[in-house]
Amino acid sequence: MGARIIGTGSYLPEKTVTNEDLTRIVETSDEWIVKRTGIRTRHLLERDEAPADMGVAAGKAALRAAGLSPEDVDLLVVATNFPDMICPGSAPFVSSGLGLDERPFFYLKAGCSGFVYGLAVAGGLIDAGLYRHVLVVGMEALSRVTDWDDRKTCVLFGDGAGAALLGPGGDGEGILGSSIRGDAGKAMLLHLPAGGTRTPASHETVDAGGHYLKMEGSGVYRSAVPMMETATREALAAASLTLSDVDWLIPHQANIRIIESLVRRLKFDPNRVVVNLDRVANTSTASIPIALDEALRDGRITSGEVVVLTAFGAGATYGAVVVRI
Ligand code: UT7
Repeated sequence: MGARIIGTGSYLPEKTVTNEDLTRIVETSDEWIVKRTGIRTRHLLERDEAPADMGVAAGKAALRAAGLSPEDVDLLVVATNFPDMICPGSAPFVSSGLGLDERPFFYLKAGCSGFVYGLAVAGGLIDAGLYRHVLVVGMEALSRVTDWDDRKTCVLFGDGAGAALLGPGGDGEGILGSSIRGDAGKAMLLHLPAGGTRTPASHETVDAGGHYLKMEGSGVYRSAVPMMETATREALAAASLTLSDVDWLIPHQANIRIIESLVRRLKFDPNRVVVNLDRVANTSTASIPIALDEALRDGRITSGEVVVLTAFGAGATYGAVVVRI
């Protein structure tokens, strides 16, 4: 039995922050940000909004799109890197917000590749006959771990959530192939040093800014393109397909230059690439499900088309999933 996507949803916080707004808090310019990243604006949570609320909104929209109710969900997977609380994560808050009662849930942390990992894992569980309907939510509240004095990172990120409800599919439907990979030697390229069990939070760690995300941008940049290229080719091989069978490519929305370089290396048609980072910036684990949901809702991606979702991120993790919609 295969697994197919039967509904998607997404949520972006109402508050938007433009590049021009950021010039008032750090030494930067709209020109630099657009030229180096392609980002123009991003959505950010207000102080009183909880990250899990975004996951709940995206999950509800996915259930509505599938025409199913919370009772139909057998398992909830919440992919995120910065949960509402280190313990118990974000999954129980998303579960209770969705009214999933005593359904099992878990929290999956796999960098910006978390949603791709989640689809691969959920698809495998459905394929094995263990669950019928699995809701995979990708959500991220990056604004809560961003150092707003660090221009090298604060201009890049946005908050948001996306979700996909997976259910059983027939032969040639749904998830056709996947490849998920890791490169632990690159673990420190993107990390948050304090607040975990290795270096618990203390006055000293807070004074040193250890609760903020640290990134070696150019190291991440150099790895991103070969990682997504490898994963895309491997996932297509697993699906016994080639790039000429692919209708749409949805890469992780980190930087337009990374996406353009990937598309050139794959010799793929740039008009068949879904890009929304100009409006939403890099929302980490949420980036792919938000882009997928937007492209389904505006009618770009239609039933029967083959879509490749590919991501890279902290860990380092990377991966790709080939789906027939
Ligand atoms: O989801 C995965 C997470 N992360 C990523 O995907 C990030 C991947 N990396 C990138 O997208 C790029 O490396 C960045 C956008 C982060 C940076 O672009 P870059 O072309 O690699 O720039 P750079 O780091 O080499 O910096 C170039 C210059 C530096 O100035 P100097 O040393 O040449 O004088 C920076 O200090 O640009 C400066 N700079 C800025 N200037 C204005 C860095 N950030 C800014 C800024 N505004 N916001």
